[in-house]
Amino acid sequence: MRTIFEPFRIKSVEPIRMTTREERQRILADADYNLFRIPADQILIDLLTDSGTGAMSSEQWAGLMRGDESYAGARSWYRFRDRIRELTGFRQIIPTHQGRAAERILFSCLDVRGKIVISNTHFDTTRANVEYLGGRAVDIPTPEALHPADLHPFKGNIDLDRLVQMLDAERERVACVIMTITNNSGGGQPASLANLKAASEITRGRGVPFYLDACRFAENSFFVKLREPEYEDHDVESIARETFSLADGATFSAKKDGLANIGGFLASNDDRLAQQEEELLILTEGFPTYGGLAGRDLEAIAIGLSEVVNEDYLLYRVASTRYLGEGLVRRDIPIVQPPGGHAIYVDAGAFLPHIPPRELPGQSLACAFYVEGGVRTVEIGTLMFGRKEPGSSHERIAPLELLRFAIPRRVYTQSHLDYVLDVAHEVAMRRSSLGGLRIVEEPPHLRHFTARLAPL
Ligand code: F0G
Repeated sequence: MRTIFEPFRIKSVEPIRMTTREERQRILADADYNLFRIPADQILIDLLTDSGTGAMSSEQWAGLMRGDESYAGARSWYRFRDRIRELTGFRQIIPTHQGRAAERILFSCLDVRGKIVISNTHFDTTRANVEYLGGRAVDIPTPEALHPADLHPFKGNIDLDRLVQMLDAERERVACVIMTITNNSGGGQPASLANLKAASEITRGRGVPFYLDACRFAENSFFVKLREPEYEDHDVESIARETFSLADGATFSAKKDGLANIGGFLASNDDRLAQQEEELLILTEGFPTYGGLAGRDLEAIAIGLSEVVNEDYLLYRVASTRYLGEGLVRRDIPIVQPPGGHAIYVDAGAFLPHIPPRELPGQSLACAFYVEGGVRTVEIGTLMFGRKEPGSSHERIAPLELLRFAIPRRVYTQSHLDYVLDVAHEVAMRRSSLGGLRIVEEPPHLRHFTARLAPL
């Protein structure tokens, strides 16, 4: 069947305010060509991120009312803790307000100063937390991950040969290995259980802790079921359990596969480490039975973690992402292949070869999608990763000029995606008339959030 079956009915709706092309041109100019500066009610379809932007179920909304707001030992805390224990097998569960808080606490307690953290690819905040604490974050994705058109089913794998080499050469200096599943920065691509098992054996066999950045563990587990023949008859929950059983611990942002709008956790089986982590938690996040969250958030996450492994939901989820990806390709817009779990990454550099990286082809395309149809996406290219070299006019450019279309969970229907594809058609027609941008003003760090730009 061509229709994507969305396995839910809509009980509560949020209106989308329509705008005209002329209005959007003005709004974009007022926002200095930076989509982060546009108020959300001036966006028609918001594909900026899949983080915290999902729709909760009626069960989760009911859970909010049941939330227990006691400071210590709330009922909602025990539900949260027990669901995570059941799913992950980890004993020590530390609640945090979102994923990056778990990262900061983990890397502080592993004491990464002067050490190396190895990953298939660190997510931005993971890398930033390692570097802020004086460590070095090294990415060793599988070689296929570097070729956008390659159709390898598990481009989220880590390069096992390089992992062995690095650990054998510098084992003492490696604080931990952390696998990001799915690999967000690498296109939302999954890692296979075979690769995770091998990476775990190599790492733990050498006495180095093996962690998961498990934000999108359910999408990863569903891809394992679809693409790794050995697991086709396993249910997603058992694949997820097996995945977690390979690791010493995990960081998690509940804003993704927690199906919640906020929250996260840090988990492990290391009692000594967990004690240190709890001490740090109390300092900045909160008491260990709420960790910066309201009781109602803990309740919503506990329920979300059960709903997310439902296979009707996951089938709809990966089908919608694939539908958007295949539709873009049919409109001659090249994407990072194969379509990932939570997002499609358009190869803006290849789509707009007349705009050199320094003139920000990804941002030019982001602006075109906004003007044509009010669609908000995010540039992942030279605006995000480029930098002025200190004391010179030379500017470092990104390895790829990408534009990410991230799909919020349970929010948009197939006809919303058809609308995005209609917009893509209009953008593709105007392709040769799209021009580059220049940066007028930028802060020293994380410039993409606040920079002001102007058309060339
Ligand atoms: N790890 C991964 C793989 C992520 O994608 C994110 C967030 C985090 C950690 C941090 O979690 O936001 O709860 O602190 N990714 C969002 C995104 C922001 O748009 O991809 P957080």
